Amino acid sequence: MSKKIKIAIAGLGNVAAAIVMGIEFYKNVKPQDMYVNGLMNPALGGYLPSDIQVVAAFDVATTKINKDISEAIYAEPNCCQPIVKKEDMPKLNALCYPGPIADGCYTSPDGNLSTYEFFRAYNESEVQPVDVARVLKDTGAEILINILPVGSYKASRIYAQAALDAGCGFINGIPEFIISEQVSGDKDWVAEFEKRGLPCAGDDIKSQVGATLSHRVIAKMFLDRGVVIKDTYQLNIGGNGDFYNMKMEGRLTTKRKSKTSAVTCVLPYPIKCRIGPSDYVPFLQDKKICYIRVNGTTYGNLPLVMDAKLRVEDSPNSAGVMLDLIRIMKIALDRKIAGRLESISSFSFKHPHIQPPSDVIAKQWVQEFIDGKKER
Ligand SMILES: NC(=O)c1ccc[n+]([C@@H]2O[C@H](COP(=O)([O-])OP(=O)(O)OC[C@H]3O[C@@H](n4cnc5c(N)ncnc54)[C@H](O)[C@@H]3O)[C@@H](O)[C@H]2O)c1
Repeated sequence: MSKKIKIAIAGLGNVAAAIVMGIEFYKNVKPQDMYVNGLMNPALGGYLPSDIQVVAAFDVATTKINKDISEAIYAEPNCCQPIVKKEDMPKLNALCYPGPIADGCYTSPDGNLSTYEFFRAYNESEVQPVDVARVLKDTGAEILINILPVGSYKASRIYAQAALDAGCGFINGIPEFIISEQVSGDKDWVAEFEKRGLPCAGDDIKSQVGATLSHRVIAKMFLDRGVVIKDTYQLNIGGNGDFYNMKMEGRLTTKRKSKTSAVTCVLPYPIKCRIGPSDYVPFLQDKKICYIRVNGTTYGNLPLVMDAKLRVEDSPNSAGVMLDLIRIMKIALDRKIAGRLESISSFSFKHPHIQPPSDVIAKQWVQEFIDGKKER
């Protein structure tokens, strides 16, 4: 059992940058530290953030490929807050490899493959993508994290297959339904991971204190306090690559489903609901602003309306959740647990196989898993 947790990342965008910088930022966290800004679990099951080692990444942006990851995370169009300045980031001696493009990018009006207005994917006639499974094996990666752009149906499955072929655990951070349910016409990925003795978790990471969690908590409070919700909406704006990509409604089907079901599932009755990314505002960069409106009816049929606004740096908000997920998956690997990790999936993802009755209960399930009282 090795103490280091070797991970690889598919999609070295803003969330990945926040994960990589976070490992350096939190390098001095000690096992006895109880309250550390931004960490739900400074130490988790004997593992610290500093135990995580990024050994490989895969991307398609010409600005990032074939660079050391410590350099590539600062390359455009990434705009994540530099919680570690570029000059203070140690070299990782781990490369960002050219991955298969598939549908990670769309064809922009000028005919180039892109996910962003000022970024281009490598030219497929000039650059040969690597064999992802081969790289995972050669670098000794134990876990592969998928954080590709929304709408990457095929590309996500290429990376999931590579994780299987290389014997890696798989974390699916994006709204592609691979771990939470079997999509019609798709293979049973969970069964495949189980067959090969590998753990998997997903789908679509839920931020630490983000729009989804806030909306769920408000909806649950209305339910518990007898205020019947008539309708609700959640509008989100931001200026990062994720928001730019999500301007394309055609890439958004699963994102809307994931975000909407994460909120409506806490209510036992149907409501009118509209949730999703609402606009791309370039100068906001990695800031996300979320507006939540909940229209309810209370005592004596009187109206009760709640408006909430959240302003947050988007990508770091999910990186802390990833640091926990990685360490939970390492515990699963140590314990030789294969298949879907239910408790951490219910806690950390918007679209898990089992939606927990509340986030408090999901947190209990995770603790029981860490303590060895819950099998998965
Ligand atoms: N930001 C958050 O808090 C948050 C929360 C939940 C889910 N997510 C999801 O995580 C994903 C990543 O978000 P982000 O903000 O880092 O986006 P991003 O656009 O900054 O990063 C995506 C990266 O993937 C790369 N890419 C595109 N096609 C690829 C391919 N075929 N192979 C390898 N790399 C490829 C892009 O070049 C880019 O670097 C999105 O799907 C997003 O919805 C993000």
